[in-house]
Amino acid sequence: MSSIKIAILGFGTVGQGVYKTIETHQKELESVLGKKVEVAAVLIKNKEKDRGIHPGVLVTDKFEEIIDLNQLDVVVEAIVGNEPAYTYLQRAIQRGCHVITANKEMFASYGTDLKELAAQHDVSIGFEATVAGGVPVIQTIQQLLNINRIKKIEGILNGTSNYILSEMRAKGESFSAALTAAQEKGYAEADPTNDVEGFDAFYKLMILSEIAFGGKPDWERVPREGITAITREQIEKAEKLGLRFKLIASIQLINGEIVGSVRPTLVSKSHPLYHIEGVENSVSIEADIVGRITLQGPGAGMLPTASAVIEDLIHAVLKTGVPGNSFRMQQQTPEDSQVKEKQNW
Ligand code: NDP
Ligand code: HSE
Repeated sequence: MSSIKIAILGFGTVGQGVYKTIETHQKELESVLGKKVEVAAVLIKNKEKDRGIHPGVLVTDKFEEIIDLNQLDVVVEAIVGNEPAYTYLQRAIQRGCHVITANKEMFASYGTDLKELAAQHDVSIGFEATVAGGVPVIQTIQQLLNINRIKKIEGILNGTSNYILSEMRAKGESFSAALTAAQEKGYAEADPTNDVEGFDAFYKLMILSEIAFGGKPDWERVPREGITAITREQIEKAEKLGLRFKLIASIQLINGEIVGSVRPTLVSKSHPLYHIEGVENSVSIEADIVGRITLQGPGAGMLPTASAVIEDLIHAVLKTGVPGNSFRMQQQTPEDSQVKEKQNW
């Protein structure tokens, strides 16, 4: 039986989570997909590090060696920043591979272009892991949009900031000790500036805006503030008053204009985000027919993020087939095409 061959670009928290999950859940994958999933190659930057990767897997610091592999079906991208990630994904799509990314910084800037390119090349692009870690926010919004008009999305979108604020409040930790713990747990970005200055939540908000409203606001006009100015004393004082700091990201349509913000906000016990603690994310989606839906769960970390990536992998293969496989070209139904259009919006 042939297998579904994937390459993982990046072997940090997310890449390792995807690799491990494929190892530990091979039976489940095979039963859902009817084929084994095989990690054919892993791209890393530093060849000296010991990775504990199976000897049969190509481990390389050269993308060319990966993109030239025979019968590569899916490329999972879990590296950091815009480049070379954007170029690598363009190349993978042009080669006819399904692509999946966890890289919100890159996807906030280039997601629209990549979706267009994927549609041109008849492959799927998955990005569930770019927003709220393991919480299926993207697919929920996509489902809702079948009939609803989204009015507003609001919530906690950065696990690291929420974890730091929680640790400072509950354990009296210093900002730097809490940040170090978030890095050790694999929640924080390599450069944690993105987390603590609100950029990470901002990128996620832009991705959500594009899906929910079909466009993004002018980036310069979105107020963005992180949590670095919040002191332990302020947190203690707030606690005595029954208030907590939360980094709230919000995007909505106001008179046809998309208006967003990322800012720390004091919330009281009656606020739905008051009890969201640690690495948890919570996202409320307000829509015209359904009303308000709230999703909550682990917003960062190895396995929750791997779960989102693997969901995308399964979705891509079930709905679009294995690239290059004649089965897909010959047996695609009109229904399949509609599903694919929605998937690549
Ligand atoms: P890490 O810093 O843990 O790992 C990054 C990996 O990418 C490393 O293996 C590194 O190689 C590799 N890498 C970096 N630059 C290059 C390059 N130019 N060429 C080849 N390999 C490269 O990051 P994470 O795993 O935490 O995050 C990966 C992506 O996923 C990021 O975009 C992040 O925003 C996103 N993400 C992270 C989540 C999390 O919980 N951590 C959750 C959701 C999304 P080497 O090992 O050799 O240094
Ligand atoms: N650094 C990010 C966070 C990872 O803490 O939310 C998940 O996107």
